[in-house]
Amino acid sequence: MSTPALFQPLTLRGTTFPNRIWLAPMCQYSVVEEDGVPGDWHQIHYAARAVGGFGLLIVEATAVVPEGRISPRDTGLWDARQTAAWARIIEILHGLDALVGVQLAHAGRKASTYWSWSGKGGTVPIDDGGWRTVAPSPIPFPGYDDPRELTTGEIARIATAFGAAATRADDAGFDVVEVHAAHGYLIHQFLSPLSNHRTDAYGGSLRNRARLLLEVVDAVRATWPRDKPVLARFSASDWLDGGLTVEEVAEVAAWVGERGVDLVDVSTGGLLPAPIPVGASYQVPHARAVRERTGLPVSAVGLITQPEQAEQILAEGSADVIMVAREALRDPMWPRRAAHALDAPRDALPWPPQYERGAWR
Ligand SMILES: Cc1cc2nc3c(=O)[nH]c(=O)nc-3n(C[C@H](O)[C@H](O)[C@H](O)COP(=O)(O)O)c2cc1C
Repeated sequence: MSTPALFQPLTLRGTTFPNRIWLAPMCQYSVVEEDGVPGDWHQIHYAARAVGGFGLLIVEATAVVPEGRISPRDTGLWDARQTAAWARIIEILHGLDALVGVQLAHAGRKASTYWSWSGKGGTVPIDDGGWRTVAPSPIPFPGYDDPRELTTGEIARIATAFGAAATRADDAGFDVVEVHAAHGYLIHQFLSPLSNHRTDAYGGSLRNRARLLLEVVDAVRATWPRDKPVLARFSASDWLDGGLTVEEVAEVAAWVGERGVDLVDVSTGGLLPAPIPVGASYQVPHARAVRERTGLPVSAVGLITQPEQAEQILAEGSADVIMVAREALRDPMWPRRAAHALDAPRDALPWPPQYERGAWR
């Protein structure tokens, strides 16, 4: 019985991930008292998936400054209370043998929005707990308020804030940091010519549009331990004429690879409403293209729901890791189900003794 590719370990720097099924970051919009502090819900939600056997849990987009939150209910890592709350959760997750990463984020012009089940849309007004948003250029996301254009001094402070959040992430015990450069949030807004109309050193050429990202990666790498991995999530296409292309994203991914990013997490879209051909594995060709062009390890995400499908993506060399999001909301035990379905050897995914009967065929 050979070990399926999904259950072969992967080593990045000093960390060996026991398998290649990772939990994709998913906002839970469930902080305590709207001050970025994770609480009981986060503990239970992530612990369930730790028991489920994911090789890495990447916790949700976590803001590096208050105005970088997607919604007032997002988690943060800009102060000591948040760091202490994460530390308690990570202690529990480590006790369940999980590795835990955090996605560090700034939402830019897509900040201060209502959480999905609020029944409201658009930008949260200041008198309802919202704030004025910022962006590379004063161009709104359709349906949201106009953002204010960032000054160069403010941009430098954002990069510094990513570095400070990485320090807190290390203090809290996170094993991995992921820089969120995807889904139309601030770093993606800088990268895409459709949202970045700047004429200074942060606009124009691809190198200039990538400048904030490179400064963020440098700030994170300056404080984050050398033996711990850094990931970066990109949208490898805006799916729009004149938008970001996979070729450009591969070039930027190579630059961040040179600066210490260890794995590229390849998603697409989110900058503007776009005609996206959504279907099973629809973003896998983007992951494969980035992998081939950069030689870096990549993860694939997006409607990967079946064990055989996930195994095939790794076996054919399209990606090194599979990330699972919505399927993990339906089934926190997805890695265990995959091990069972693929008839993986018993030691490919250790089972807690309480659940061992579930491994039997
Ligand atoms: C509830 C929910 C919250 C999400 N939050 C984030 C997030 O915080 N950061 C991010 O990069 N992607 C986020 N995503 C996108 C997922 O990580 C993933 O890329 C997307 O859902 C496609 O994968 P899937 O088909 O396996 O769900 C979220 C998705 C869902 C469903």
